[in-house]
Amino acid sequence: MTTGSVGLFAPQPQRPRLGTVALASGAAWVLAGNDTGTMVTASPRLYPHMWSWDAAFIMVGLAQLDVDRAAREMETLLSGQWADGMIPHIVFSDENGYFPGPDRWQTAVVCEHAPARPHTSGICQPPVHAVALRKIVDAGRRRGGADRRRAESLLRTSWPRLFAWQRWLATHRDPLGTGLIAVTHGWESGMDNSPRWDSAYASVRPGGDLPPYVRKDLDKVGDEGERPTDDEYDRYLWLIEEMRRVGYRADEIVRTGSFLVGDVFMTALFALSCEVLAELGEESRQPGEQVAQLRHWAARSRSAVLATRDPATGLARDFDVRAEKWITTPSIAGFSPLLCGGLSPEDQTALVAALEGPDWMGHPGLAVATPPTVSPSAPEFMPKQYWRGPQWPVISWLFSWAMRRGGMYDTAADIRAETLRLVSDGTFAEYYHPLTGAPLGSLSQSWTAAVVLDWLYEG
Ligand code: SER
Repeated sequence: MTTGSVGLFAPQPQRPRLGTVALASGAAWVLAGNDTGTMVTASPRLYPHMWSWDAAFIMVGLAQLDVDRAAREMETLLSGQWADGMIPHIVFSDENGYFPGPDRWQTAVVCEHAPARPHTSGICQPPVHAVALRKIVDAGRRRGGADRRRAESLLRTSWPRLFAWQRWLATHRDPLGTGLIAVTHGWESGMDNSPRWDSAYASVRPGGDLPPYVRKDLDKVGDEGERPTDDEYDRYLWLIEEMRRVGYRADEIVRTGSFLVGDVFMTALFALSCEVLAELGEESRQPGEQVAQLRHWAARSRSAVLATRDPATGLARDFDVRAEKWITTPSIAGFSPLLCGGLSPEDQTALVAALEGPDWMGHPGLAVATPPTVSPSAPEFMPKQYWRGPQWPVISWLFSWAMRRGGMYDTAADIRAETLRLVSDGTFAEYYHPLTGAPLGSLSQSWTAAVVLDWLYEG
């Protein structure tokens, strides 16, 4: 890939760059600063609680620093797991600087599966937790001694819990019966306001009886234009209201909710996590039928991902179950097959070439050659707006990790090197402006610091 020539076209950020040691220290400092003792909050001000997929990436970084602390993070997350297996998207701390908080969700009040404590939200997020467990176990085995014992013990206690989580998704979120995992709220996808969801959200009509609310996010970022709009928030809150009214019953939400989309990115991560958890299960002698079940779910969801590919572009697509139509927005989710594997060698080469090509990482306007969340060539591209274009280091880490696992070493290494160049400004921002490299959203974001640490330690 021609990362050098891409750099020639780009306006380079003028901020000082940190060397490796300073960057690693800064990342560790961010994690320590956001640590309440039992949870590392997603960020200091904007997100003062534990978010499910943030927590998984945070564990990946903590594993490099302190195996026991990483294990405790997993235990805190699992303390919020619902009795039916769902891992909720937020486990709340005692902070109250975030909306919607526990009073708005009321999960334990209306749903018998939700724990009374800790307080949790009532939706989920992408299942990347098996990857975190893999990282903790590997770090513990590498270090040996007490770290090894701690990691093996975590593996024994958390494996059945993560199996139950994967089973919940396979059981309650496969409305078409094909293995394509569906989300019932854009927040579940992790990519809240991606243009992937615009058409599905257009059909969500907030009722006149939506209880009033005041946003708390807007005064915590430098520029409101980096956050979702009020119109989007009304829809986010309306979906929660629908769910609360049916007592967060999983099948009822899938049957009646206003938003139901087969999420190809979530599905690929589900398949990947089933594989990783199956490997960990074999290594730790978990029940053979559960390991086989995971492999079955992985194969089924991998096929579902491949079946979504657009014949014209080769990119994977989401499917709006309510509207019964494909979603063709050119977003990073189009490259989901690179996360879960299963492509023929020719198709894989073509998809990697598209990712590296001028509509994506190789776009001449980019400050660094890492995947933007929406193609800069697309009309939907908005370079500073949350999931509508910016580069997210955590997404780069995920692709780099999965692609290395899948044997796509060169691209994985390029993504790592270029993202490290981006984050060497030391702000550890939530996301970055793809054309200028400017930090956006929340600064000192834990998952950004965590994946940087993993990259610096593991290469
Ligand atoms: N990311 C969402 C928020 O901005 C919630 O998951 O609040």
